[in-house]
Amino acid sequence: MTKTVLITGATGAIGKAIAGRIAENHEYRTVLIARNKLKAAQIADQLIDRTGNKHISCLIADLSRKHEIQSIADNWRDPVHMLINVAGTTPRQRLETPEGIEMQWATNVLGYFWMIRYFLPYLKKGTPSRIVNVASYWAGNLDLNDPEFTSRRYDNNTAYRQSKQADRMLTVAFAERLKKENITVNACHPGDVHSNLSHDLGFGGHETPEQGAATPVWLATSPELEGVTGKYFEHLHETGCQFSHDHDSIEQLYEMCNSY
Ligand SMILES: NC(=O)c1ccc[n+]([C@@H]2O[C@H](COP(=O)([O-])OP(=O)(O)OC[C@H]3O[C@@H](n4cnc5c(N)ncnc54)[C@H](OP(=O)(O)O)[C@@H]3O)[C@@H](O)[C@H]2O)c1
Repeated sequence: MTKTVLITGATGAIGKAIAGRIAENHEYRTVLIARNKLKAAQIADQLIDRTGNKHISCLIADLSRKHEIQSIADNWRDPVHMLINVAGTTPRQRLETPEGIEMQWATNVLGYFWMIRYFLPYLKKGTPSRIVNVASYWAGNLDLNDPEFTSRRYDNNTAYRQSKQADRMLTVAFAERLKKENITVNACHPGDVHSNLSHDLGFGGHETPEQGAATPVWLATSPELEGVTGKYFEHLHETGCQFSHDHDSIEQLYEMCNSY
């Protein structure tokens, strides 16, 4: 049976490597979700040429904008077996979406939240299905009173770290909610890979994109992960997550995201 895998951020370093690894398996239909139509189409063509898998397509949406995610989901019909949230950004200046939401909060946190929320009906059709949230070990400083840096001074490193903490906390929130639906939700650190994002954070990255893809792909596809949910992984190993214990804050974060 062909399984459908949705991958965001597939025009970036790690997302493209994830898409490549997934597409190598011809039992998977790979869907690249990207904001840049031309870039996405070129990558899809390259992957089709390289893997011989013809079941590679693109959906175009700016993942910092709720209505664009809602619109691609509204036009979708089929079961989804895996959703891999990868898209991320870390602009050096504080930017806002056209809706007035701080850009990292919108893309890195709400983008993941909205992808899960709007594709949930299709993940339910594809059960047992899996959600993988690419987060980071570089995480912390979440301020639930000022997630958009309206009173704190913005710096992209702090905003990035809080967004990745939030991704890890939302993983726990969704895992608890979706357990009874037979949908697992796990988070990971992919590895340190040179990319536009790492450049904007000021580091080079010593791992290849393929090394960065290994943990997310394993979480999405490996039979040994069946039924495992709400966990955080680094380099193919479950790692304790310091952000997974404070259930009040996790619920507060979930409700806050739900209110956007
Ligand atoms: N690189 C690392 O060392 C590292 C370490 C830990 C965690 N991570 C995580 O890994 C993930 C991928 O990072 P990367 O290093 O591969 O970064 P990257 O090469 O800069 O890729 C980022 C991807 O996100 C997409 N994106 C950004 N904003 C978007 C938006 N509004 N709508 C749709 N797509 C958007 C980009 O699309 P465009 O091509 O259109 O810009 C690109 O495909 C991120 O979640 C990051 O936090 C990376």
